[in-house]
Amino acid sequence: MKGKINYSVTDGIAILEVDNPPVNPLSDGVRHGLIESMEKAESDDSVVGIVLTGKGRSFIAGADISEFGQQIEGPSIHDAFEKIEKSTKPVIAAINGSALGGGLETALCCHYRVSSKQGFIGLPEVNLGLLPGAGGTQRLPRLVGPAEALKIMLSGRHIPAVKALDMGVIDSLSEGDIVEDAVAFAKDVAEKNETHPLVRDLNEKVLAARGDESIISEARALAAKTRKGQFAPGKIIQCVEEAINLDDFDEGMKKEAEYFIECLLNPQREAMIHIFFGERAASKINDVPKETPKMDINKAGIIGSGTMGGGIAMCFANIGIPVHIVDQDEENLKKGLAAIERNYKFMVDRGRMSAEQMEKTFGLISSGLSYEEISDVDIVIEAVYENLDLKLEIFKKLDEAVKDDAILASNTSGLDVDALADCTKRPGKVVGTHFFSPANVMRLLEVVRGEKTSDETLATIMSLGKALKKAPVVSLNAPGFIGNRMLFGYTTQANKLLLEGALPHQVDSALENFGMSMGPFRMLDLVGLDLGWRARKLSGTESPITAKINDALCDLDRYGQKNGKGFYNYVEGSRAPHPAPENEAIYEQVSKDNGFERREISDQEIIDRCILALVNEGAKILEEGVAQRSGDMDVVYINGYGFPIWRGGPMQYANMEGLDVISAKIDEFANNDPEFWRKADLIESLSETKGRFGDAPAPEDRKPVSGFNKSSVAGNL
Ligand code: 3HC
Repeated sequence: MKGKINYSVTDGIAILEVDNPPVNPLSDGVRHGLIESMEKAESDDSVVGIVLTGKGRSFIAGADISEFGQQIEGPSIHDAFEKIEKSTKPVIAAINGSALGGGLETALCCHYRVSSKQGFIGLPEVNLGLLPGAGGTQRLPRLVGPAEALKIMLSGRHIPAVKALDMGVIDSLSEGDIVEDAVAFAKDVAEKNETHPLVRDLNEKVLAARGDESIISEARALAAKTRKGQFAPGKIIQCVEEAINLDDFDEGMKKEAEYFIECLLNPQREAMIHIFFGERAASKINDVPKETPKMDINKAGIIGSGTMGGGIAMCFANIGIPVHIVDQDEENLKKGLAAIERNYKFMVDRGRMSAEQMEKTFGLISSGLSYEEISDVDIVIEAVYENLDLKLEIFKKLDEAVKDDAILASNTSGLDVDALADCTKRPGKVVGTHFFSPANVMRLLEVVRGEKTSDETLATIMSLGKALKKAPVVSLNAPGFIGNRMLFGYTTQANKLLLEGALPHQVDSALENFGMSMGPFRMLDLVGLDLGWRARKLSGTESPITAKINDALCDLDRYGQKNGKGFYNYVEGSRAPHPAPENEAIYEQVSKDNGFERREISDQEIIDRCILALVNEGAKILEEGVAQRSGDMDVVYINGYGFPIWRGGPMQYANMEGLDVISAKIDEFANNDPEFWRKADLIESLSETKGRFGDAPAPEDRKPVSGFNKSSVAGNL
């Protein structure tokens, strides 16, 4: 049969198996195949019912995301769904794995839904800048009620089968073979029932919601809080309003189609789909073959029980891997474990985990004072403060203490991973794993590839990163790696703007309105202004101009949030920043002392200078081969630095603005500051060909790396 559906008949039940690996999206061949197989089953008198299932680990993972924005020929999803919904024979969705987006929408067109225990459902279109456009916004509210449906669609979360059963999305849970159970279910309903229910006809819950304004206002509040700046959530809410208020289901479907097109045409859709594919591409390493063997990670060790060490330990425990923390100081260890326990208790209080789950998960974390206790672990992650000498000492000891084939990883944010590798007898097993704080929350994991890191180590870490629910991105071992190197230019520009006449709250609000989750001065206050100040003092080096205001504030004991005053003032017990007018005289003085004439600066100039600093440095990182592809930098910025996902990351933002426009702006800035604005050759060449960053071939040679400091604190911000 043409199309990607395997057709067979068992006991009078036609089994339609979607076969579009690896996750069975509703690509053209699937839509064709569904229509043909439904017609075949319908016209075969020996068939009394139809089971629809998926081959492999997925039922149907939704529409084929790669088709969005393309010219599509052949039958639409709606054509295929009509065949299912209008079938005279009962159609049972046998959900064997992920039923997401168009996959759940397919199941909602079936008369009945049975799921295996591994099955899960969800409408994650919002994460792609879209809304469920194949009836999901009209059918799900009819099944679970508009309030619950809105929560599902606005969060995009995955719901396990057991929960879906409770909610009434599925009718039965299979304990054994899902297809066999679905066939039995089909035979039973075909025999017993003359008519079979359709979700489109269930009006009770939408009618009950009519006139209840709280449902929509709560959804709007949720979207404002969790999806700031995004276009699709508002459209999802409008669709549900239509489902509630329109008497005719098909009229609701028309509205859904109208709003879906609006989302499809919105630039946010392109940006967010770029990140969907970007994250998947980032997990692959160009010169590490797919078939590279990976080590099993069954037990982990962590060195250091501070905030980072504790957060990383939680990541392992959360996925069921036992983890042992070693600290040299008993008091520290006690404090660290208490902090982990508090984090878990907080999750229990918020209903994010049950007390039993907490007991089980926290129980996977053990601790002690000696390296001997971690002799049998498969990986150790060192998470002490950023000092190369200390880390070298730890790596030497670890090399002796843990089994020979264990991976030794450093959670460094900027130190030389090759230096760490070279002090061990296993340089191939040494790698950087740069987690972001708080490590149990932030998704970014920068994987730092040393000169000698083996393919097996890299493949293992990339797969471990995914298992830990992180977004792993590979960086060569080069100063600042990817994220902090780009950040350096961004904060340099923010500080220069301050010297030239802008105020911290103006810079922050311009960038927050652009979509950054936190402006640079709020971020500096959060991290602590004194860190860089102390490091500069210790090293005895002259501060760069861009650190002069920071230093002047520290000289007046303004260290940031930690003591209630920095670029902003803070009221005790609150993290909300209040402008600090008393600082303005300091800014004026430092500007004057350093030859700056303060002037009015527009929000657009702030955005351009800070964001293009990221883009220009990103382009240089790409030229040097420190990052494998431009999308990797977008994944870094979205998952680690609060860049708005709906802009697709800094490199995609530049692509969408046009690299010729970006190039011209950099030229203009270079007139005043040629040293900083040395334009990347890549931007120049792509702007001439009207190209995009994704078009640049990955460099074959890795350039030699130099310039690491012994401590990465001062370099970070
Ligand atoms: N369309 C096209 N390709 C898809 C896809 C989809 N819906 N879902 C996954 N893929 C591809 C991935 O790009 C990846 O390709 P690669 O191997 O070349 O990198 C491959 O399938 C495997 O994907 P993952 O690495 O993500 O596999 P996992 O096993 O980790 O996760 C999953 C499986 C949970 C299904 C995850 O892939 C996922 O969340 N997929 C997207 C689900 C989704 O967003 N569905 C909604 C689509 S939009 C829609 O349906 C619109 C409709 O309402 C009209």
